[in-house]
Amino acid sequence: MSQASIRVRLTLWYGTALALILILFAGTIYFVMSRGLRDQVDASLEEAASAAIRTLGEHRFGPFLIFEDLSQNFPELALLDKFFQIFGPAGQVTIQSANIKSREIPLSQTAFQASLKGQSTFESVRFDEGVPFRLLSVPIRHTERLVSILRVGTSLYPTERMLKRLLLALVIASPLAIIISLLGGWFLAGRALMPVNVITCAAQRIADGDLTQRITSPRSTDEIGRLASVFNDMIARLEVSFRQIRQFSADASHELRTPLTITKGETELALRRPREAEDYRQVLESNLEEIDRMSRIVDELLFLSRADLGEIKMTMTPISLDSLVREVQLQATILGQDRQIETVLGAVEPIVVDGDELRLRELLLNLVDNAIKYSHPTSQVELSLRQVEAQAELKVCDHGIGVSSLEQQRIFDRFYRTDTARAHASKGTGLGLAICQWIVDVHQGAIHMQSSPDTGSCFTVLLPLRAPVS
Ligand SMILES: Nc1ncnc2c1ncn2[C@@H]1O[C@H](COP(=O)(O)OP(=O)(O)OP(=O)(O)O)[C@@H](O)[C@H]1O
Ligand SMILES: [Mg+2]
Repeated sequence: MSQASIRVRLTLWYGTALALILILFAGTIYFVMSRGLRDQVDASLEEAASAAIRTLGEHRFGPFLIFEDLSQNFPELALLDKFFQIFGPAGQVTIQSANIKSREIPLSQTAFQASLKGQSTFESVRFDEGVPFRLLSVPIRHTERLVSILRVGTSLYPTERMLKRLLLALVIASPLAIIISLLGGWFLAGRALMPVNVITCAAQRIADGDLTQRITSPRSTDEIGRLASVFNDMIARLEVSFRQIRQFSADASHELRTPLTITKGETELALRRPREAEDYRQVLESNLEEIDRMSRIVDELLFLSRADLGEIKMTMTPISLDSLVREVQLQATILGQDRQIETVLGAVEPIVVDGDELRLRELLLNLVDNAIKYSHPTSQVELSLRQVEAQAELKVCDHGIGVSSLEQQRIFDRFYRTDTARAHASKGTGLGLAICQWIVDVHQGAIHMQSSPDTGSCFTVLLPLRAPVS
């Protein structure tokens, strides 16, 4: 059963439940009907008996009573479906109606005994020919003495025939009803499960590697509709992350290939013929620069992948952000000296946050390094720190090349560098801001930038203030 398809199981469950209900229903109908018919027969027998007793009373219970007299006075007794018998006090037949013909229907011991006690008796009997009868025996007493016993009887044949027909109808109609509703159930279960088949096929195509596949199901809020939309959302997210992973590997290899190609080309060129010691020194120096660059990329990549795995340990301590900003400003002044870029302090409020000093310093240095790197010579970079509600707001603003709004969404992606940035400063891996984003995230803060090309950029970092010690 557990291996059968849901459609088969649903249909079988449904069929079994329906069959049980039908059996119960048919049984109840048959029982109520047979009880009703018997009660009806009994009531008509009682009626006939009391009419007969009345007639007998009028004839003073004389022994000359004949059925014809009875039926003349009471036309309802002339009904063909009833017969009458009158037994003497010893139980022997004295008179009986003509429609009983020559059939022998003796008084049973039970009826006789009951009559002696003055009780009426209903009996169902079946004679040799198989015709069923319902009999009512009523004692007729005069001054506490049993004078005679009146018996009214009727054939149960019409009742039995009716019940047989009913049974036949139920026996034929019930399985038919079950078959029809099983077919209906099979059809409905198939219809209800059709979207599941569609989902299975789509999932199969996705499993084969086509992540662009989506489930096309009518936009509905039923169970299947919700399943389809959750499934589609999941595949969309998977598609994005797979694309990012592919992009990331392509970018990583591309970033590593450039310094490798340079190193290789320069080394090959140097080895082509014997050279002066000074030439070799120059080649080695240039190679060292490229090797430095590669090891930086590898270090940063390693850091990011360890961060992804949650392996970077953080030591959270109270950090005075304003002192950190001042220290970084001094370093930035040295960094910008070559291109006469001055780093100035705007408003700096004393603010303490909970954080890892090393990482927060790295965050600030990355931002300041970018600001200087992407500034025009002789321009200014401004650092400011202030409290906004329950947050520390740190700003690093420059007057440099800026970033177009389209590109702004991607600058936090790993290895992403804008074309203007590549043209402006060849050095850079495009991993700095990805690391900043991670540092801000682990400090439960937020980072965003405002920028317009050629006007400059402003990076804002929001960090929660240190929780007051209670
Ligand atoms: N202050 C800025 N002004 C203009 N563009 C910026 C600024 N800061 C970042 N960007 C853009 O965002 C990109 C990503 O910055 P990110 O710091 O991640 O990489 P990078 O500075 O190019 O390399 P590195 O890994 O050495 O920091 C930069 O290449 C540049 O295009
Ligand atoms: Mg950078």
